[in-house]
Amino acid sequence: MIRKLARVLSVPLVGLLLPLKVAAYKSPVRWIKRAILEFTSFIDWALVFANVQNPAMLIHQRVYRGAFLFGKAVMVVDHAVALRDIPKPTLRGNRFMGVDLVSNDPGAFVTNAGPITTGQPVRRLVREYIEREVMSPRVREYDVDTIRGDCAEIFADWRASEHMANMWTVRGAVTRVFLRLLAERTVPRELADDVTRAYVRRFAEFSLFGRYAPALLGVLGTRDGVRRDAFAPLRRLGIDDIVIDMTLFAAMFSVGTILMRSLEIAREENLDYRKLTRAERRGFVIEAQRLHPTVTTVHRIVEAPETIVVFDTTLELQPGDEVAYPFACLNRDPKCFEHPERFDLSRPQAEFERVLSWSVGPHACPARELSIAVTIAMLDELSEVSDLRALRPLNLEF
Ligand code: HEM
Repeated sequence: MIRKLARVLSVPLVGLLLPLKVAAYKSPVRWIKRAILEFTSFIDWALVFANVQNPAMLIHQRVYRGAFLFGKAVMVVDHAVALRDIPKPTLRGNRFMGVDLVSNDPGAFVTNAGPITTGQPVRRLVREYIEREVMSPRVREYDVDTIRGDCAEIFADWRASEHMANMWTVRGAVTRVFLRLLAERTVPRELADDVTRAYVRRFAEFSLFGRYAPALLGVLGTRDGVRRDAFAPLRRLGIDDIVIDMTLFAAMFSVGTILMRSLEIAREENLDYRKLTRAERRGFVIEAQRLHPTVTTVHRIVEAPETIVVFDTTLELQPGDEVAYPFACLNRDPKCFEHPERFDLSRPQAEFERVLSWSVGPHACPARELSIAVTIAMLDELSEVSDLRALRPLNLEF
C-alpha cells in the first residue's frame, strides 16, 4: 500500500525534475550541469528507496515516453541499441542505475570493487580467473537434477526449517547451495545464515550512507564488519575470495530475490508451479527475470561525442558521460516481445533468447545457466512442501 502510494506520488516529481535534467545536459557550462545533476541524483537515489529499482525505471520511462535521465546516466530503452552497444569494451563506470547505490568499495568487496567494475584490463583478468578457477567444466555441467543430488543435505535442512519461505531462510539456503556448487564445501547452516545476514546488513549500510553520510560507515564499522563477519569466516575455511564474493554478491542477492519474486508471481498469475513441465519451469524463471530483472542496469562510459534523443530533445553526450541500460525497460520493448507486460510461458523460444537480464557480450553473466538451474531446483524443493501460491513471506527487495 505504502509502496503503491509512493509510486503514484513519484510520477509528478519525475515530471518536475525532467526539464531540469534536460537543461543540465543542454547547458554549455559544465559546472552547471554537474551542480544540477548532483541535486537531481540525490532525489533519484531517494526515489529508488521509495519505489524500488525496476519500478523506478519503469515510472521514468513512462513519464519521458522513451529514453530517460536517471541519476547521472542516460537510460537507453531500445532493445536493438542495447544489443549493439552493451558488448562494447568501454569503461564500465562505478555506479548502479546512475546513482551511488551499490557499493563498490575496494576495501570491502572483491568482484564488485571499483577498479574491477570500472574497466579493463582488471575486469578481463578477473573474468579469465573466474572462467578458469570458478566456472570450471565441473560447475558448468550442473543441471537441476545434479544440483538437487549434490545439495541433498542442504535441501533436507532447508525443508526442516520452521519457515522455509522466510526471506532470511531462503537467502541463507542460497548461500549454502552456491558454496557447495562453487567451492565443494557444505558449510554449517548457522554459519551460512550468519554471513548472509552480515553481508546484507553491511551492504544496506553502504547503500544508505556510502554516498551521502560516509562518516556513518566509520561509526557503524561497516567496512571492518563486512570483512570480519562475511569474508573472514569463509576464508578461514579456505574458500576463495572470488567465490565468496560471487556467492554473497551475485548469487545470494540475485537468486534470493528471484526466488522470493517467483512466489509473488505464482500468486498474482494464479499459477500452479507443480503442474509445469521442466521446460515450462525454465520459461517461468526466464520470464520472471524478464519482467523483474534482479540486476537492474549495466553501464557504459561514453568515449567519443554522441547524441541521444530524450523527451523529443537531442542531447549531446560528451566523453565521460554515462549511458545505462535498464533491463526492465529493454525486456519490455514491444518491437521484441509480443504483449510485453504479460507473464507468458508460451512465448516463442526466440523471445526468451532476447531477454537481456544476464547481459550480453564479453562480460555477460558467467553463471546464467547455473542461476536458472539453481532457481528451478530451489523452486522445485519449495513446491514439494507447499503450493507456491500459498506462501506469503515478507520480502524486502534488494
Ligand atoms: C540470478 C540471476 C542472475 C542475473 C540476472 C545476473 C545478471 C548479471 C548481469 C546483468 C551481469 C553483468 C553486470 C555488468 O556488466 O555490470 C552479471 C555479471 C556477473 N555475474 Fe551474474 N547474474 C545472476 C546470477 C549470478 C550468479 C549466481 C553468479 C555467481 C555464481 C553470478 C556471477 C556474475 C559475475 C562474476 C559477473 C561479472 C562478469 C564479468 O564482469 O565478466 N551471477 N550478472
